[in-house]
Amino acid sequence: MMKLTSERFEVVLKNLFEKYFSSSPTDLKNACEYALFGSGKRIRPTLCFLTADFCKIYDENVYILASAIEFIHNYSLIHDDLPCMDNDDFRRGKPTVHKKFGETLALLAGDALLNTAFEILFDLLKKDINYLESVKIIASYAGVNGMIGGQAGEFVNAKPDFGDYVTITKKKTAGLIQASVLSVAFLSMDRRKIDALSSFSLNLGMIFQLTDDLLDKETGESASFVTILGENEARKMLQSLYKKAENSLKDFTNENSDLMAFCDKIVKRTY
Ligand code: IPE
Ligand code: MG
Repeated sequence: MMKLTSERFEVVLKNLFEKYFSSSPTDLKNACEYALFGSGKRIRPTLCFLTADFCKIYDENVYILASAIEFIHNYSLIHDDLPCMDNDDFRRGKPTVHKKFGETLALLAGDALLNTAFEILFDLLKKDINYLESVKIIASYAGVNGMIGGQAGEFVNAKPDFGDYVTITKKKTAGLIQASVLSVAFLSMDRRKIDALSSFSLNLGMIFQLTDDLLDKETGESASFVTILGENEARKMLQSLYKKAENSLKDFTNENSDLMAFCDKIVKRTY
């Protein structure tokens, strides 16, 4: 059986981009391309492939789900960097999309990536309705009850306490990470694995935000686990979340090593 690879994913992502943006105004296409192929770590697609392995799913359409999620992730970063939100001039060591293309095109590029993600997903559903639950999962975790809700929750609360910030993080950051894992996990129809992965991906999402906050601790003017807890407590929380993530997959010792290795990488990441 064929394993899903990140090399093949890059080809599928590029092909999808060219197909759906073939009649786009050039500037809009350039802004979207700059965001989508701008040295992102591809954490969410990688999670899709590791989950597929964990569930023994070898299905090329997982590349389509992963592509749509990466479109949504990059739309969210473009909008997050805008002056009305975090007002960041740099991302991934390069000027942000609005710095390079202007605010109007940045706003529209975000909109275009989000809409195209769902156009891609609807085209998948037209071919095979079995992906309906996966598409619904992506929509939910990216939406009001997920990422967008978390972004808004953070915006309206300038001084979140620990509990508030946990709630914000579960939606804002863990949302798309859970969508990446669960949209694929549901294809397995294996209840025990889905439940285990649901808990694993929530903890991994929290771990991701904690490491982000620890890496940003010098620059952070906004609320973070480090500003709320202090660095020592934040590091302790990281260890405890890692144990929880590990515990979530403890019934699957034969299958869980790659997902746990990925979790290790996130804990130890330096960028
Ligand atoms: C950054 O996500 C946004 C957060 C959820 C904190 P990533 O660190 O995965 O972004 P890229 O795609 O690798 O730049
Ligand atoms: Mg933000």
